[in-house]
Amino acid sequence: MSGHGHQLSDEEAAAIFEPPSWDERYSGPEKVWSGNPNAQLVAEVAGLTPGTALDVGCGEGGDVIWLARQGWRVTGADFSANGLARAARHAEQAGVADRTDWWQVDARTFTAGGRSYDLVTSHFLHPPDGGMVAVTRRLAGAVAPGGHLLVVGHAPSEVFTHLTASQRRAMFVAEDLLPGLPDDFEALVVEQRPRTTTRDGVTVDIHDSTLLARRTS
Ligand SMILES: C[S@@+](CC[C@H](N)C(=O)[O-])C[C@H]1O[C@@H](n2cnc3c(N)ncnc32)[C@H](O)[C@@H]1O
Repeated sequence: MSGHGHQLSDEEAAAIFEPPSWDERYSGPEKVWSGNPNAQLVAEVAGLTPGTALDVGCGEGGDVIWLARQGWRVTGADFSANGLARAARHAEQAGVADRTDWWQVDARTFTAGGRSYDLVTSHFLHPPDGGMVAVTRRLAGAVAPGGHLLVVGHAPSEVFTHLTASQRRAMFVAEDLLPGLPDDFEALVVEQRPRTTTRDGVTVDIHDSTLLARRTS
């Protein structure tokens, strides 16, 4: 997410959440993300038996590549064509192209369409206007019986005051997502986990809103 020094019009604020904005971010020469796997992914998935996985909002593919290296067969999904092209290139460079494939979908409208995965994961995909509850329900629809759903996002914090009001409203705590879980899911982790990160060379303390759930039938 990027800073905005001036007051945005409603159209500009809404455009931040749409594919052209992300395609533009993924069109420059520099990587946008570190390429390292997300902390809560490593914490929760390292103990699971590898199977099939879907990472929605996969960006440049850091989590997809980590999962593939752990033995998972992974589909990386994102609505940005540029992001997916970069992710595929990174997977190729990492030598895991044969364990990965790519799916261009909008998390707000996608349906699993008969596909199911042992693990469905999504990190820092923040749709606007409380949309993450409905996205959680869609993600849950792609989890195989006995499989896991891991959804992680930013908890609201003063640390994010450089972002737009609509970006800050799009953040959530894990409890907010519970209404999106179908009845045949049991929640295993519902918490905000502290994490230290660096932004522009400055250390900041943030919290990862973390929902881990298992489909029981
Ligand atoms: C903050 S980045 C996180 C990327 C990656 N998960 C990570 O943690 O490094 C959010 C990603 O979600 C994607 N995204 C945002 N809204 C989306 C939506 N509605 N459907 C699919 N992808 C979306 C963006 O293109 C972007 O790649």
